[in-house]
Amino acid sequence: MGGESVQTPLLFSRMNTTWIEISRSALKHNIKQFKQLIGPDILLSCCVKGNAYGHGLIESARIMINSGVDWLSVNALYEARELRETGVTAPIYIMGYVPLEDLHEIPDLDARLVVYNMETLKRLEEIGREIKVHLKLETGNNRQGIRDEDLPAVKNFLANTKFVQLEGATTHFANIEDTLDHSFAMSQLEKFNEMTADLDIKIKHCANSAATILFKKTHFDMVRVGIGVYGMWPSPETRVSVERETNREIELKPVITWKTIIAQVKNVPSGEYIGYGCTCRVNRDSRVAVLPVGYYDGYDRSLSGRAHVLIHGKRAPLLGRVCMNMIMVDVTDIPESKLEDEATLLGRQGEEKITAEQMGEWASTINYEITTRINERIPRVLA
Ligand SMILES: Cc1ncc(COP(=O)(O)O)c(C=O)c1O
Repeated sequence: MGGESVQTPLLFSRMNTTWIEISRSALKHNIKQFKQLIGPDILLSCCVKGNAYGHGLIESARIMINSGVDWLSVNALYEARELRETGVTAPIYIMGYVPLEDLHEIPDLDARLVVYNMETLKRLEEIGREIKVHLKLETGNNRQGIRDEDLPAVKNFLANTKFVQLEGATTHFANIEDTLDHSFAMSQLEKFNEMTADLDIKIKHCANSAATILFKKTHFDMVRVGIGVYGMWPSPETRVSVERETNREIELKPVITWKTIIAQVKNVPSGEYIGYGCTCRVNRDSRVAVLPVGYYDGYDRSLSGRAHVLIHGKRAPLLGRVCMNMIMVDVTDIPESKLEDEATLLGRQGEEKITAEQMGEWASTINYEITTRINERIPRVLA
């Protein structure tokens, strides 16, 4: 077989069995909503970490930049690298940890880095190339962040650096989207103001989607919006708070639709089991459709026996357990279902829709996790 090239039909075939449609117009609409909310003087940084919350890093970043987004926030170095390699020139802010041995890559990527420990600062200075950093300050989340008592040493170090330039200061809210009582978030804001009072910085920022929507006083010089820009609300509490605490009307349009096609339709007599573990037994003569999507694709196993999908604009309930690469659904009441008909796992079909929030409830998680965990290998198609 020497000399024969190996064909890899993987991407092509996956394109036909499951894919994600990204609505360009919905993404643009959401960006416009946030730009109107913050006004022209505040930078809009969109969070594209986690494969742009599952929406596709490159596909989403391009639309964002073309729609006037100022900065992109990523978690990791590899995401910054991928953006630069595809020609994105906008400022990139890295919010996660970069190992000491990889820090030398940052100047070439012209990325900004969040810093919250002395080891990172020292190594950056040793690299001997100009680099802009943003200090992450601990205000109550106890995740990343420099504590009050450690700040003087950091300030002292930065006062004497030749290459490391302090551009920004930042913090992150712990529970702003989890509650109708925003007193803890306001105490974090107060602490942030205290800690930054004598810092000479250009860009102060702390607002995620919920803070951006709810409290203008959190906007400072830049906001870092994630979930909202993808057309999802941070939480039901944020929706209630916006009505109670503001006179804002904000409409967010979901950007993602996740689709697949029917791989088999079969008749299953009453009393037979469906799927692994024999956890589901049909109690009527049923028609069952097999869909080629499973937990490998990010369709969580905890959706077993709980979720619905949409076929011909109607709800088809899951039967039995989610498998690695397949699910089975009940199409007894959708008799027109046939091989290769489209099924919508997430998003709208006809008059019906399945939201990430609803899937989150079924899977005992949050909308963030539902979209972010959709397998990166599934093609993202712009619609
Ligand atoms: C540091 C930081 N900033 C901003 C965001 C964006 O938050 P949201 O998606 O709620 O807008 C996140 C998301 O987790 C984050 O970790």
